[in-house]
Amino acid sequence: MTQESRADTYLLGSAGSTHLRYRLFNDVYMPGTLQLMSGMQISPDMEVLEIGCGIGDTACYIAQNLVPNGHVTAFDQSAALIEIADRQAAELGLENITFICAKAQDFPFPAERFDIAHTRYVLSYLSDAGDVISKTYGALKRSGVFLGEEIAQIYIRQGPTEWYERLGFWFARLIEIGGGDPNYGIDQMASDVLGAGFVDIRASAYWPVEDQQKLVDMLRIALSQEMKQNLVDLGVATETEVDEVVRELAKPNRDYVISASMAAQITGRKVSS
Ligand SMILES: C[S@@+](CC[C@H](N)C(=O)[O-])C[C@H]1O[C@@H](n2cnc3c(N)ncnc32)[C@H](O)[C@@H]1O
Repeated sequence: MTQESRADTYLLGSAGSTHLRYRLFNDVYMPGTLQLMSGMQISPDMEVLEIGCGIGDTACYIAQNLVPNGHVTAFDQSAALIEIADRQAAELGLENITFICAKAQDFPFPAERFDIAHTRYVLSYLSDAGDVISKTYGALKRSGVFLGEEIAQIYIRQGPTEWYERLGFWFARLIEIGGGDPNYGIDQMASDVLGAGFVDIRASAYWPVEDQQKLVDMLRIALSQEMKQNLVDLGVATETEVDEVVRELAKPNRDYVISASMAAQITGRKVSS
């Protein structure tokens, strides 16, 4: 497998077997997402679009709790993840949610349909995030709002240990080989949101206050599955190197704290309020 052949691919793993990693990811970032949404005056009958929804945890939460009389349309390019998302919605008895398997670049939505469009940790994986944000602008109603969440700066720039920095480098390389931009960050997201025509833009960044065990488990699971295969196949790391980091992540007690990447949040309105 060549690095060139993997452009436009999500290389961190999106097979159905990775669903636990997605659940842990949601646990780590959901408090920040809820805080972002609590400032947005979301009415119960709104139409929401979720871009790159993974297993649909956030979309289901929004459908169940924030827009119980409205509707959520959520999409992801992974058919395996959409299947899990559909099952989850059915188990919750949600009838106001539709999951679609689609690539963000294809953006199969009509103009002026949604009140809110939300995306979390998807834009940096895209080869043209600006274009997707522009299409999102078109799909929002006049009163619509865009809510974007993304890595604020490159993954784990300074780790507490050499192996943690190596892990950050691996994430960055896979994003890059997959056609994304590991340095996308808060500046580029703000610039793309502004370029799409949004106004009243607000951006901020925070460190997720995460449960250490959940973060470590999330990284360990990621690294033990598709991500490991991709790192090895693409010549980014050897199997031995990956296994060494997996062993570090599996150690029960460590006397230092590791941190998730700093998260950026941005909001923009289609028309000034
Ligand atoms: C880090 S995960 C985040 C998932 C979810 N937004 C969350 O916060 O739990 C990135 C997601 O983006 C999806 N993705 C990556 N590239 C995509 C594309 N071009 N179009 C649609 N989805 C994409 C992946 O399949 C994956 O589910």
